[in-house]
Amino acid sequence: MGEKRPVTVRNTRPGDFPGIVEMCRAVYSTSRPWSFEQLASHHAVFPEGQFVAVDPASGALLGMAASLIILWDDYEPQEAWRGFTAQGMFTNHDPVNGRTLYGAEVMAVPTEQGHGVGTALYKARRELAERLALLRIRAGSRLRGYGVHATELTPLEYVVRVVRGELYDPTLSFQLRRGFHVIDVVGGYLAHDPESMGYAATIQWLNVAVAKPEDYGTANPALAPYVPKPEA
Ligand SMILES: CC(C)(COP(=O)(O)OP(=O)(O)OC[C@H]1O[C@@H](n2cnc3c(N)ncnc32)[C@H](O)[C@@H]1OP(=O)(O)O)[C@@H](O)C(=O)NCCC(=O)NCCS
Repeated sequence: MGEKRPVTVRNTRPGDFPGIVEMCRAVYSTSRPWSFEQLASHHAVFPEGQFVAVDPASGALLGMAASLIILWDDYEPQEAWRGFTAQGMFTNHDPVNGRTLYGAEVMAVPTEQGHGVGTALYKARRELAERLALLRIRAGSRLRGYGVHATELTPLEYVVRVVRGELYDPTLSFQLRRGFHVIDVVGGYLAHDPESMGYAATIQWLNVAVAKPEDYGTANPALAPYVPKPEA
């Protein structure tokens, strides 16, 4: 798309909260923005996991990413976003037992999308997972382009076509190009998201420095051909 722009990524500070709320309103017109209470809770429980992307010259806010550490086995595979994030408060953050960095949010200011902001935020997240020697990053990728294909494809068929590069999804295609793969497809993930109709792909980036052979794979046979295999 557009040319890359200069971006600095740093940890989120309380002074960023009003700008994040404003950005949220611009990105998601149909859902409630992050509240100050939620953003303050993220900052209190896991400050290293919260990032903003800013313009290095002006300091203007360009994007944000919010994460927490979870013990994946505490959750059902079909868990909704609200469950993985304790209603958006991140009070379920579990750095003692958890080995999964859960990506709860990533967004770029609409007028700045396509210029490398999201890529810079993903890089910061990956570096955090590596620094903390976590096994993986997982997230629900809202299937933004599914709504327009819903009459002819099931969510799983849609995801397989995106993974094969036959369809473009504005969110999932971006994440696949950042080293993620799909391990599952879930419904009822997000409320108030007509574009995805609530469907999401469960995506994963594996930290190969710590992953064991049993950490690879997917339980979903339709996705099995498209997930990485451990090196022989
Ligand atoms: C997903 C998102 C964070 C990506 O951020 P971004 O700053 O646009 O990402 P980048 O500029 O680093 O990369 C964008 C990639 O998508 C491609 N792209 C294609 N059409 C695009 C569009 N209309 N807008 C943005 N990127 C587009 C770019 O070419 C680039 O491709 P690449 O993989 O070849 O590099 C951003 O689009 C966003 O905020 N979306 C809305 C919120 C959302 O859905 N978040 C995810 C929740 S699961």
